[in-house]
Amino acid sequence: MKRVTRKYIYMSKLIIQGQAQLAGEIEVKGAKNAALKIIPATLLSREKITITNLPHIEDINKAIALIKDLGAAVIQQGRTLEIQINDIVKNELKPEIANKFRASIMFVGPILARTGEVKFPLPGGCVLASGAQRPIDLFLQGFKKFGAEIDIKDNCYHLKAKQLKACDYFFTTISVTGTESLMMTAVLAEGRTILKNCACEPEIKALADYLNSQGAKIQGAGTPTITIEGVSKINAGQYQVIPDRIETGTFAIMAAATKSEITITNCNPSHIEVLLNIFQKIGVEYSHGEDWLKIAKVKTIKPNNIKTHEYPGFPTDLQSPYTVLMTQAQGSSIIHETIYDRRLLYTDMLMQMGSDIIMCDPHRVVVNGPSQLIGRTLTSPDIRAGIAMIIAGLIANGQTEIDNIYQIDRGYENIDGRLRALGADIKRIGTLNL
Ligand code: EPU
Repeated sequence: MKRVTRKYIYMSKLIIQGQAQLAGEIEVKGAKNAALKIIPATLLSREKITITNLPHIEDINKAIALIKDLGAAVIQQGRTLEIQINDIVKNELKPEIANKFRASIMFVGPILARTGEVKFPLPGGCVLASGAQRPIDLFLQGFKKFGAEIDIKDNCYHLKAKQLKACDYFFTTISVTGTESLMMTAVLAEGRTILKNCACEPEIKALADYLNSQGAKIQGAGTPTITIEGVSKINAGQYQVIPDRIETGTFAIMAAATKSEITITNCNPSHIEVLLNIFQKIGVEYSHGEDWLKIAKVKTIKPNNIKTHEYPGFPTDLQSPYTVLMTQAQGSSIIHETIYDRRLLYTDMLMQMGSDIIMCDPHRVVVNGPSQLIGRTLTSPDIRAGIAMIIAGLIANGQTEIDNIYQIDRGYENIDGRLRALGADIKRIGTLNL
């Protein structure tokens, strides 16, 4: 079989001929941001953990490579992954892998809890906030509270703690991975930890439910205050990755933006309640059951302002697809991105495609719709801006070419194949390495 190198993936691109009529069903895959936490959580146990409904995406490949490097026995069959890590053979995260994705920071707490020592580089991932990389100060403050000593040299962190001690910790900024990381760290710490001003995302509750089913004592996950009674061991177990709510919302927005009737299956519509309420305001009709969502063909879309917010507010990860949708609305909408200050830069590319967008400041744009978008050659700067470009390409007149689609493959499994099945005219030049 031909070997597909990483360089080759970087060279791949998507070519979209816009305005094809979409219709049919699309299935949501397991949530990237849930799967990325359960893999490091397996480090908390010496026993075998079976993970099902795993998405086939680039970030998961990196998490698996990282855990194998720590000495885990890993068997992957389709969407099922078995991991057992009896002994953590080294307590250093391989920089070549760790500095390529943000969720590598999730490995730090469990390694520290099990071995008393961990070395890691500044994690990578999408550059969404000012500065070269996203900050990790909340994690470091938290680890210190658990009794860790921290040494920083040449952008490499060295943490030591013979026995982690429970603590009270207040997040001065609400952080999803920060909450998950300290919650996992507390599971094996001695005593009762109370985490305050926590993030409430469904992936956090899913992680806590799983850990509780295997012997942890976590209360309040999914609310701002989480209490964790330390235990001495976590048992073997099974975890089914919850459906990706960002995929669900993205496909729902795509259906509305392309004025298509699409049914989204294997999803949890209650996780995107905020979007569905906005749909009611802007004239997007839908019906749903517990695990499906059907978007009806839209006639006209009304404008509507949004402000991104922690869950259950409007997710920052849906801001870019929603902005594309508002380019098709009858009037002006303000998009206010409150979580990251570099997450509106992609709107420059929507402007190149003919949309009427005014950038007010790094956090706010005004979108004046409706605009007929025109196909262009674009580069995907990150996962969510990349998927927005795909949606823009689907509604544009003519051909859109998107480079750097490695960024899209990090978060969306076989996106071109799945959209082709809906009738999209989209092809990949280069090969998908799964
Ligand atoms: N922040 C700090 N210090 C820290 C950590 C975060 O100042 O130590 C700031 C961030 O700069 C940001 C805010 O806190 O302004 C909130 O960021 P958060 O920590 O919640 O983000 P995250 O945990 O790094 C996760 C998702 C992101 C998603 C955000 C917000 C994962 C692996 N990533 O990131 O997902 O946008 O929560 O919901 O769970 C994506 O999937 O494309 C993605 C970027």
